[in-house]
Amino acid sequence: MAIQKTEKVWHNGKFIDWDDATIHVMSHVVHYGSSVFEGIRCYALPSGPAIFRANEHMRRLIDSARIYRIDVPFTADEILQGMLELVGGNGVWPCYVRPVILRGYGEAGVNPFNSPTEVYICNYPWGKYLGADANEGVDVCVSSWTRIAPNTLPAMAKAGANYMNSQLIKMEAIVNGYAEGIALDVNGYISEGSGENAFVVRHGVLQTAPLGNSVLPGITRDSVLEIARDLGIKVVEQPIPRECLYIADEVFLTGTAAEITSIRSVDKITVGTGKIGPITKAIQQEFYGVVRGEKADRHKWLTPVPVRTKQPVAV
Ligand SMILES: Cc1ncc(COP(=O)(O)O)c(C=O)c1O
Repeated sequence: MAIQKTEKVWHNGKFIDWDDATIHVMSHVVHYGSSVFEGIRCYALPSGPAIFRANEHMRRLIDSARIYRIDVPFTADEILQGMLELVGGNGVWPCYVRPVILRGYGEAGVNPFNSPTEVYICNYPWGKYLGADANEGVDVCVSSWTRIAPNTLPAMAKAGANYMNSQLIKMEAIVNGYAEGIALDVNGYISEGSGENAFVVRHGVLQTAPLGNSVLPGITRDSVLEIARDLGIKVVEQPIPRECLYIADEVFLTGTAAEITSIRSVDKITVGTGKIGPITKAIQQEFYGVVRGEKADRHKWLTPVPVRTKQPVAV
């Protein structure tokens, strides 16, 4: 999906024009993958635009930077305020918001300590990520690529470098005709998709991999776990063997981009009846109900974006 420009980008506390948000080719990040970032959705509610789980995304961003010893010259709250001003000012919603903290242009060589920290926030319109009609589900495969192993690259950090592994998973899936690949961890248990957490339902129990199986602590994953508990669905975080994907009653992926996407088949084996299952449906209804403003935001997941006008600019 081509990126659609918006007017301004937030850079180190100032607003700059979209076309001026450039970096030098010798920036540390270009060569060594030294960035951490977030992917956040701003939804268009009848009451105006609102960012989904803004505080949790800010916390994960700062945590990712901390893991990589990146000193960030802004607090989570300052970046959050910048994001709200950016989205309100650009006047484009619903949209995807992408804060990124990177090691910029300083010294050559692997040592990152002498390269300056740059913080950017962009926002732009974005639709369905896995392109699925929610009622049909998508076809996925188990990747031949293993997810990054513990003590190699930290899976809990949302770092640019991790997405080289994700790209291998995604490309393999695409060239083989699948919408997405689900990677196994170093021990052969289900880890996650290239950009989503994975859930399996069997005998009415909702299962997902614990953080120890090299997964990003997904914010949608956390929301789904909360919704499931609210709905009285039994939830288990435990290592899941690969074959559970083939004998599951329901499988779905979660992520900011993918939201809650039902899986129709894994490695060409139909999941359950091949139709979206009742637990997936119930969780989707709750999730989309909240982000569309149709259901009460019980958990205070939405942060309203202050705007001059409640009319979004057409995208
Ligand atoms: C590798 C990976 N796992 C899981 C997720 C889901 O995380 P979230 O729900 O916070 O978007 C993402 C998306 O950011 C991801 O890139």
